[in-house]
Amino acid sequence: MSESTNINQNRKDNDTPKPVSIRPETTPLYTTSVYTFPTLDDVRNYYADSSSSYLYRRNGNPNTRQVEAIISTLEGTEASVLAASGMAAIAQGCFALLQPGDAVLATEVLYGGTYAFFEQVLRPWGIDITYVDVNNQRALAKAMTSAVRMIYAETIANPLLQVTDLEGLGRFAQENRLYLVVDNTFATPALTTPSVYGSTLVVHSLTKYLNGHSDVIGGVASGSKTIVDRVRRFAETFGGVLSPYDAWMTERGLQTFEIRVRKQFDNAYQVATALCDHLVIEKVYYPGLDTHETHGIAKRILKNGFGAMVSFELRGGEVAANAFVRACGDILFAPSLGGVKTTISHPALTSHRAFASEERARLGIRDGVIRLSVGIEPFEQIWHHVSQGLAAAAASQ
Ligand SMILES: Cc1ncc(COP(=O)(O)O)c(C=O)c1O
Repeated sequence: MSESTNINQNRKDNDTPKPVSIRPETTPLYTTSVYTFPTLDDVRNYYADSSSSYLYRRNGNPNTRQVEAIISTLEGTEASVLAASGMAAIAQGCFALLQPGDAVLATEVLYGGTYAFFEQVLRPWGIDITYVDVNNQRALAKAMTSAVRMIYAETIANPLLQVTDLEGLGRFAQENRLYLVVDNTFATPALTTPSVYGSTLVVHSLTKYLNGHSDVIGGVASGSKTIVDRVRRFAETFGGVLSPYDAWMTERGLQTFEIRVRKQFDNAYQVATALCDHLVIEKVYYPGLDTHETHGIAKRILKNGFGAMVSFELRGGEVAANAFVRACGDILFAPSLGGVKTTISHPALTSHRAFASEERARLGIRDGVIRLSVGIEPFEQIWHHVSQGLAAAAASQ
């Protein structure tokens, strides 16, 4: 018998898998689109209780389930359901809760993509949307009709960072038996958990702070098990589910969530304070400053800081904004937020372009407004680059 035959023989003997006990340190990535079932009884059992088994990826996967559990803990909710993007979470949440003929009271200043969804999808679908100052109880009461089913707000509004009085809004929603949907993307559960104030659903763009590394697009909706099951059923039918890889990446990002955002909040406070002294700046928008219109609310609603977003208006409009962007060195223009690197955005041209220019002007989102997403770099490094940008903006006048 040749040596090679012996080796093949050995291989064959070794083909029988040996029972081994492995406990990986991190969650393995389950890419399979479907699971196999030894018998029809097992299939029947899955449909009777799917909480500890899987059938088809669109209906759940170990990676998405793991992240859902982590976010439910962070948000203090019974359940969560992931989505293919923040917009998918918002859309699937709204579709699951609303019917044509219903009406929504939405915050006046909200993310442009959400505004576009409300105007281009929900309204033609038969939902009336009224935009109100959600911190003004009288305006809310005035806007109420018997068709209103939902209030939609952002904890910290994009881009001028007004903080919503979730306490008052939660009370209003409860008294009027309305769903309260809160986008907690900018605040993150490190600052506040809207469920404490009675939110029906908390939605997030995972793309931002929860993943935190600008390498995932994802979303999540969290709430009671009954409500989240409704959203999940809708999402499974609609199909806007998160891929296992993006869930796996998000789980990785979530491991450093608290430590990242704490550093970001700290840096942002220092940046906002330093910006106030600069002559080229018309106004700084940061809820931690006592000059911010919602500072009082921020002190009540936000714990552990005031967030990592800082907006400011440059004197000199778009010309100054352009000069700032060009001269900011390592701080790059990137129309997203929440990553570990500090980035710049220009809301009028990007996130809020869906608004008519008169509406943007009315809301204060002028062409000189710059939005900084403050990262985890040393403050001195961030300030060095921001100062260069400010000097260029001043020189452009
Ligand atoms: C506050 C807020 N909500 C929702 C979204 C939408 O999230 P995504 O881009 O993941 O769909 C964004 C995106 O910028 C956002 O800023």
